[in-house]
Amino acid sequence: MERLSDWYDHPEYYEAIFGTDTEREMDFLLEVSRRYGTGGKQLLEPACGAGRFVAEAARRGYQIVGYDISEKMLAHARRRLTPAQRRRVRLHQARMEEFYQSELEGKVDLAFNLVSTFRYLDSEKAALAHLEGTRRLLNPEGVYVLGFHLTDYEREKAEHERWVERLGKDTVVCNTHEGVPDPRLRRSAMRNRLRITGPGKDLLIETHWYFRTYDLAQTRRLFRRAGLQVLAVYDFDYQVDAPRKRGEIRLDSIFVLQPVKNKNPSPSGRGTG
Ligand SMILES: C[S@@+](CC[C@H](N)C(=O)[O-])C[C@H]1O[C@@H](n2cnc3c(N)ncnc32)[C@H](O)[C@@H]1O
Repeated sequence: MERLSDWYDHPEYYEAIFGTDTEREMDFLLEVSRRYGTGGKQLLEPACGAGRFVAEAARRGYQIVGYDISEKMLAHARRRLTPAQRRRVRLHQARMEEFYQSELEGKVDLAFNLVSTFRYLDSEKAALAHLEGTRRLLNPEGVYVLGFHLTDYEREKAEHERWVERLGKDTVVCNTHEGVPDPRLRRSAMRNRLRITGPGKDLLIETHWYFRTYDLAQTRRLFRRAGLQVLAVYDFDYQVDAPRKRGEIRLDSIFVLQPVKNKNPSPSGRGTG
């Protein structure tokens, strides 16, 4: 068995697992944008990875800017685009805590970031920088749809998820393991194993990283600091007609965020949120 150590160096296997529901997720995102935001054509995907959403948005006629830290993921994203899609897509290598483009300021109708990617930001400062930066790019009536798994600090056991998918003649088995959260360091140790088997192939890609942890109160405090209000919360089942009821607490959460309306603009004319 061959062993490798970073699943984002192997976009095709990453997407074999995460790319199976892209059309349904895109339907959900666009409908959320119509209901809570402007429904407009300018999209932004922070940490766009191998570009499954970028390609799908462009296929549907939307303009989209995507960025990611991983050049290998971006290369896969570029390769998959048809010439017609390419005209609607801008891709950049950038970090979530730093990305900014003056020409996008105030223009983004819908930004989105699902599957807990936000939790890669490993400090409050980095998370705040990302949210404030994204807020500045949003149209004041636009929305940022941010999906991530909240942490139950009472949990004493590791969590485990397993998926199996086919990729051509190969079978991809994905095992993700989240360790017990450390409430002081605000992080959980993560491990992902992708085992790929097929004709002449036996590969194990094992990736280790930390995810930052958030309970609901920590999340809401951060959003407030970033000048973002929560318009609705959904589960990971992407049912646009079934937003979570007030007071209902579940861990898998998709927040629909919008810039807080600035009632007292600062002298420079730029709000502080
Ligand atoms: C779980 S994947 C999600 C990819 C894509 N959004 C999707 O849904 O398929 C997480 C992505 O985040 C990227 N990433 C991790 N930390 C990042 C950071 N600080 N800034 C930008 N991208 C980051 C990784 O390179 C990877 O492509």
